[in-house]
Amino acid sequence: MVLYYVPLLCIKHFSHRMKKALITGILGQDGPYLAKLLLEKDYKVYGLIRRYSNPNFENINYLGIADDIEYIEGDLTDESSLMNIIKNIRPDEVYNLGAQSFVHSSFEQAKLTTEVNSLGVLYLLNAIKQFNPTARFYQASTSEMFGLGNDGGFQDEKTAFHPRSPYGVAKVYAYWITVNYRESYGMFTANGILFNHESPIRGKQFVTRKVTDGVARIKYGLQEKLHLGNLEATRDWGFAGDYVEAMYLMLQADTPDDYVVATGEHHSVEELVTLAFKHAGITDWKKYVAIDPRFVRPAEVPHLRGRATKAREKLGWRPKVSFEELVKMMVDADLKRYEEKN
Ligand code: NAP
Ligand code: GDD
Repeated sequence: MVLYYVPLLCIKHFSHRMKKALITGILGQDGPYLAKLLLEKDYKVYGLIRRYSNPNFENINYLGIADDIEYIEGDLTDESSLMNIIKNIRPDEVYNLGAQSFVHSSFEQAKLTTEVNSLGVLYLLNAIKQFNPTARFYQASTSEMFGLGNDGGFQDEKTAFHPRSPYGVAKVYAYWITVNYRESYGMFTANGILFNHESPIRGKQFVTRKVTDGVARIKYGLQEKLHLGNLEATRDWGFAGDYVEAMYLMLQADTPDDYVVATGEHHSVEELVTLAFKHAGITDWKKYVAIDPRFVRPAEVPHLRGRATKAREKLGWRPKVSFEELVKMMVDADLKRYEEKN
């Protein structure tokens, strides 16, 4: 019996080829969570980084995986760099998370946002088509594409797009070029239409982290007021760690498709603020919040709430972390950061 099994085990061992994944946006919020998930699944992970005078590895360090990734220099706006990277690595899976992702800045930097978020996707698809057409491609699409569009208060894969920012408009192009390369060239391309997702490594410009960081600073006497814009907007907020699992599942499916990823719950910015202060033991939050027109947008997306039935039924995906748990996790992480500094 033993002699019979040993050769089989050896064959299994040597026939195993490590899958290769390329992640753009590796140093942002989602990049580190996705990289961690893929490393746990035994992938070789390559991360595209821009040239920096001072690289910022804070997020990837936070998850403790900085040394497990192979970093490659390139830029989504530089087609030749993407061609070379795809030609040299020949990844099995490409996750395009890189973007100018801050909606507010896209009004001031519409051209840059379009170059990175629209043309960058076209360049990457062209590089894959030319040098590695069997690679599976994930595009980080977004609920911002819906903008004003909704069907009875919810958005899903059938809801019409009506974007409200240069960011949203650029992402609509990216969405359709991803669909088009699938339909035209038979490439395995998938759009994840993800609703807002957050974590302790969310950028501090985004409202959740701005609030949890502000609450911690106020708690430790480092800041007097938190300046915010529209408190009435509602968002469907989930946890980034849950959402990267959906990205992975989309590329493991038998056929490529597009999926909404959301919790199905929505909350206002005011609810977020109330809960975050309360969790830090501050009940009279109005004393510490000032409404500041600088943070109001020329055009707002008032309400986002996703229906992720398709992802649940076809991918078996569902969120695990609730809104309350998410806010608590982020407030606790920021309190800990300032506690350690004190
Ligand atoms: P993020 O934290 O802002 O990270 C974006 C990353 O893109 C950063 O690492 C940035 O690099 C990189 N990048 C920017 N311009 C680039 C360029 N020209 N070439 C190469 N890389 C570039 O965003 P995120 O929250 O992780 O989101 C990941 C993706 O999902 C984005 O495409 C975003 O638009 C989309 N999305 C996010 C959400 C959400 O709620 N988080 C929801 C839906 C869709 P640096 O580190 O050098 O700045
Ligand atoms: N950032 C920010 N700062 N937003 C504020 C503030 C403030 O001071 N005050 C109110 N808000 C409101 C915004 O007007 C918006 O309605 C809401 O809070 C959420 O803003 P952000 O956290 O900046 O996120 P977003 O919804 O605009 O965009 C994020 O989610 C998209 C998916 O729907 C980003 O991650 C995008 O990249 C992503 O595509």
